[in-house]
Amino acid sequence: MERLDKFLCDSGAGSRSQVKLLLKQGRVTVDGLPEKDAARKIDPAANAVCLDGQQLGGRVRTVVMLHKPAGYVTATEDRQQKTVMELLPEQWKHLELKPVGRLDKDTEGLLLFTNDGQLLHRLITPKQEVPKVYYARHEGQATPEDVEAFAQGLTLRDGTVCLSAVLEPLGAGESRITVCEGKYHQVRRMMASRGMTVTYLQRQQEGPLGLGSLKKGQSRLLTAEEIAALEEGAL
Ligand code: URA
Repeated sequence: MERLDKFLCDSGAGSRSQVKLLLKQGRVTVDGLPEKDAARKIDPAANAVCLDGQQLGGRVRTVVMLHKPAGYVTATEDRQQKTVMELLPEQWKHLELKPVGRLDKDTEGLLLFTNDGQLLHRLITPKQEVPKVYYARHEGQATPEDVEAFAQGLTLRDGTVCLSAVLEPLGAGESRITVCEGKYHQVRRMMASRGMTVTYLQRQQEGPLGLGSLKKGQSRLLTAEEIAALEEGAL
């Protein structure tokens, strides 16, 4: 059971104060009967709540993909710096989306958000092994020895041991890196441990999802099929 005003907010009907007004104006019905009491308890699975005759669905499970530009920190709030939340459209505010894992301030690329706590947990638990693919520009040149060291599982300069990862040299100072965990500054630190300082980093893929034609700074909702594929990979 939950409060009617919360259910209305979660459904995207408006802010707390807008919802109050809607109720006052008699535009909300519960099981066909007008309801003005914001504190009325409803069961979203059993009661039909309508706004202007349209049934509302409560807080729908949502997953969003953002093409993160550099310069934004992955956090829900920050006093000093711009956060990735500022890049999401205003109309998704009520969905209470949270970033899935994090990208460094200077890293660009694919960042997911969801309001599904379980999915969030599954995706950020390293043992679930959702592969993440990065494109890096870096100093130096990746050698066959570096490729082998990544495959073996690198030990970082501070002694942190990484799971086996795939390093694919793409050309002079360019590589693709696939990792199945999300340690702090992981790719940058892995590359640095082999003497290759990363100068640009972009996440191109997470599990079955790629950036596609999504432009820097743009975001979009995932389809039901994409969410299903993501969940399958994270099971
Ligand atoms: N590895 C990094 O070093 N930085 C990121 O943002 C993501 C992976």
